[in-house]
Amino acid sequence: MYKTSLILAAGDGKRMKSETPKVMHKVCGYPLVKHVFNAVKTVSDDEPIVITGRCGELLHNLFNDEARYAEQTERRGTAHAVMCGEHYLKGKSGYVTITAGDMPMITGATFEKLVLTAINNNMSACVLTAVVDNADGYGRIIRDIDGSVKGIVEHRDATDEQKSIREINTSIYCFNIEDLLDSLKLVDSNNAQGELYLTDTLGILRSQGKKVGACIVDDVTESMGINDRVQLSQAEKMMRKRINENLMRQGVTFIDPDNTYVEACVEIGADTVIYAGNVLTGNTVIGKNCIIYPNNRIEDSVIGDDAEIQSSVILSSKIGDGTTVGPYAYVRPETVVGNKARIGDFVEIKKSQIGDGTKVSHLTYVGDAKIGKNCNMGCGTVFVNYDGKNKYKTVVGDHVFIGCNANLIAPLNIGDNALIAAGSTVTEDVGDNDLCIARSRQTNKKGWVLNYKNWKQ
Ligand code: UD1
Ligand code: CA
Repeated sequence: MYKTSLILAAGDGKRMKSETPKVMHKVCGYPLVKHVFNAVKTVSDDEPIVITGRCGELLHNLFNDEARYAEQTERRGTAHAVMCGEHYLKGKSGYVTITAGDMPMITGATFEKLVLTAINNNMSACVLTAVVDNADGYGRIIRDIDGSVKGIVEHRDATDEQKSIREINTSIYCFNIEDLLDSLKLVDSNNAQGELYLTDTLGILRSQGKKVGACIVDDVTESMGINDRVQLSQAEKMMRKRINENLMRQGVTFIDPDNTYVEACVEIGADTVIYAGNVLTGNTVIGKNCIIYPNNRIEDSVIGDDAEIQSSVILSSKIGDGTTVGPYAYVRPETVVGNKARIGDFVEIKKSQIGDGTKVSHLTYVGDAKIGKNCNMGCGTVFVNYDGKNKYKTVVGDHVFIGCNANLIAPLNIGDNALIAAGSTVTEDVGDNDLCIARSRQTNKKGWVLNYKNWKQ
């Protein structure tokens, strides 16, 4: 049986009060529509059809060739939106799952249940419904005395008696494709909003003697649609809980999951312990058996196994196995730190490679550098990579010891096993095994201070 899907994403979402179209607002790192897309893919043999409006370009950039697109230039209702994508469905037989694009909590499992209900019962249409305490604003499910679905009535068109119904339309449906296309031709705009309602197709199909049914969602929170920023924050909280609980089930310890912010695509290995106040975002992958102490921001970065990270910011970088970072380190993009290395307090590293076993323990800036294995950067080392116009590279060999408060003026090469005396300002290359002292010699003037004081009086 052929199965495809269609996402309604043409709405502006006026209540968001935003320049950004509603479906592009993010929950736990993904736009709303991306959550829906990922879930609906489970019931789609080919690329989901996305109905776009004002946000067309953004949606194209989001899904590229993983989706098919149709533009709805005028907002004439949900049935009209589906009609805009009709050309993808014509001539096909099978089922299409239709969903609103603003329901981030919906899961693949629920879509599967809906589609199976439709197919196994040979239905022309099956709507996903939810039983809610406050049904204000939603379309109500009208059932016959035998429990079968007669149709859907929109809130604005409902009688007082219909308004007391608490079973609502979630805006997710599975249709037999041919029956859907036939019924769309019969939808009119005789309603309070003068729009073409997709919901009308259920009543139309039923009146044609076709089988129409409903599938009640097990977890009401899945049916949540986002209309404003308050709901957006509620979804964020629910999604966070879902993500963290999934990770806990995979063997990750969270000391305080309510205060740990992990985005949807982050991966974390088993036996890693995550303390409170961590913000782990983007395509971050954290290995096994790490300790992520409080208050880190780690974005688009890969952390190896057995690493320990504390109160630091790590962006688009890679940290090796058994390496410790922080507290208070700032690792900027394109940095690769090797295994069993140490990046200590108040260290900033930018676009640099740090070899295995190398220690950059405190108060150091490393920029545009390649540092070899088992080196030691003394406290206050500065890689002087910028002359006000251009950036230059410094290459440091293996087993190099750099004394405290040295300035390494790039471009510069420092050979293996070299030693740089503390306080040096190094402007010329240093060979293998060489000692470099680049500072003026110390002079002590005997008793000078006493003379100075006497002179002043
Ligand atoms: C819709 C349903 C209602 C259901 C509710 C659930 C209809 C007529 N009503 O009402 O039964 O309880 O969702 O949240 O379908 N859209 C377009 N183009 C349009 C109109 C809408 O793409 O011309 C998209 C919107 O972007 C949105 C979805 O369709 O993703 C639903 O539209 P919306 O206007 O929010 O419908 P509701 O009034 O919420
Ligand atoms: Ca809505």
